Amino acid sequence: MRERDAYANLVLPSLLRQRGINGRDAALATELCYGTCRAQGLLDAVLQSCADRPLSEVEGELLDALRLGSYQLLRTRVPPHAAVATTVDLVRASRGSAAAGFVNAVLRRVGEQDEGGWVQTVVPAVDDDPVGYLAMVHSHPRWIAQAFADALGGDLDELAHALATDDARPLVHLATRPGQISAAELAGLTGGRVAPYSPYGVHLADGGDPGELAPVRDHLAQVQDEGSQLVTLALAGVPLEGADTRWLDLCAGPGGKAALLGALGATRGASLEAVEKAEHRARLVGQACAGLPVTVHVVDGRDSGLPERAYDRVLVDAPCTGLGALRRRPEARWRRRPDDLAGLLRLQRELLVAALRLLRPGGVVAYVTCSPHPDETVCVVADVVRRTGAEQLDARPQFPGVPALGEGPHVQLWPHRHGTDAMFCAFLCR
Ligand SMILES: C[S@@+](CC[C@H](N)C(=O)[O-])C[C@H]1O[C@@H](n2cnc3c(N)ncnc32)[C@H](O)[C@@H]1O
Repeated sequence: MRERDAYANLVLPSLLRQRGINGRDAALATELCYGTCRAQGLLDAVLQSCADRPLSEVEGELLDALRLGSYQLLRTRVPPHAAVATTVDLVRASRGSAAAGFVNAVLRRVGEQDEGGWVQTVVPAVDDDPVGYLAMVHSHPRWIAQAFADALGGDLDELAHALATDDARPLVHLATRPGQISAAELAGLTGGRVAPYSPYGVHLADGGDPGELAPVRDHLAQVQDEGSQLVTLALAGVPLEGADTRWLDLCAGPGGKAALLGALGATRGASLEAVEKAEHRARLVGQACAGLPVTVHVVDGRDSGLPERAYDRVLVDAPCTGLGALRRRPEARWRRRPDDLAGLLRLQRELLVAALRLLRPGGVVAYVTCSPHPDETVCVVADVVRRTGAEQLDARPQFPGVPALGEGPHVQLWPHRHGTDAMFCAFLCR
């Protein structure tokens, strides 16, 4: 991951399969790998105060080992002598005795305090910088904690709850394919439980590998966060007058929401056109939607050539920072940079304006992000409303039974409130 910018949740399962590691060993390897990735900010602050040189000058492999060792010391029940000894042995085998001596010395210093003690030592004082304090305690970059705080209206107690939940390993969620199998049947087949809000959702028991499940292999269900299901169902549920047969997904890859929309459309006599700019992701949309009334277009959604004023329902699931799904990607929070936002904001605005052009009068556009960052959620919507004169509808009635939806008109879901990724959804019409 450090060398190739790979994703932990793609690399690790395939490595474990390749090496024949399963059961409790696989669970431990996963906990160590994902946990170390998540906690990187805190671990680095601790390591920096224990090392005799800047971490930027420590060779990559040694830094990996130091992070892995200190994670075990601070955040697991692995006995300290075992955490240090196994890490030092690993380093000695690959980098020799001098490197092993360095790692041994640093880890012994790390082991002198527990996590609580280190937090007092390396974290900013809570009164000086409450957001920075919570960010460090819950292993988030400060700018991301600030974005969460802004989206939550500055409530620090709720921010602590949000960051803590975002730092825990989430359950895998499945969505049934509407019309094929019920959520109760899927729960029975997979040993999961029916989801609290989405009528198509199932939460798997902790540790389940969804790729192995027969209903997923047979296209009766797909892996999909319950929040993604809810925003898709919300778009399909907005009451419309007149025709309701032409649906459009303007940012479709890899096809999770397109598959759910396509399957819902199939039960209601509607068909879906799915736009995706990246060719390999468009192929994934085709695979996800096999057997459904879905046509894939490999074009730029801003200039798609599709007919204007033609579509009844349009989804803009915009490219975004993904800050709402950090719990599912252990390393992502440390890779994202605040500068990533600027380019995305422009693209988001342009895609939403294009969607409004393609929408028929009386139809509805859903603007969705898997991020709660106000710049790419409420600010983009407000800006487009101002520029185009579009009208924003109250989204909350389309989330029946879902509590704590705030004052509207948009809906912001949260892991700590709803057990979903932090999906944002706003409805616009022209
Ligand atoms: C958040 S993802 C969509 C996820 C998808 N709706 C799902 O549920 O599986 C955004 C997608 O938009 C695509 N994209 C980025 N720029 C685009 C553009 N200008 N036109 C169309 N698609 C674009 C990205 O390649 C990416 O696949």
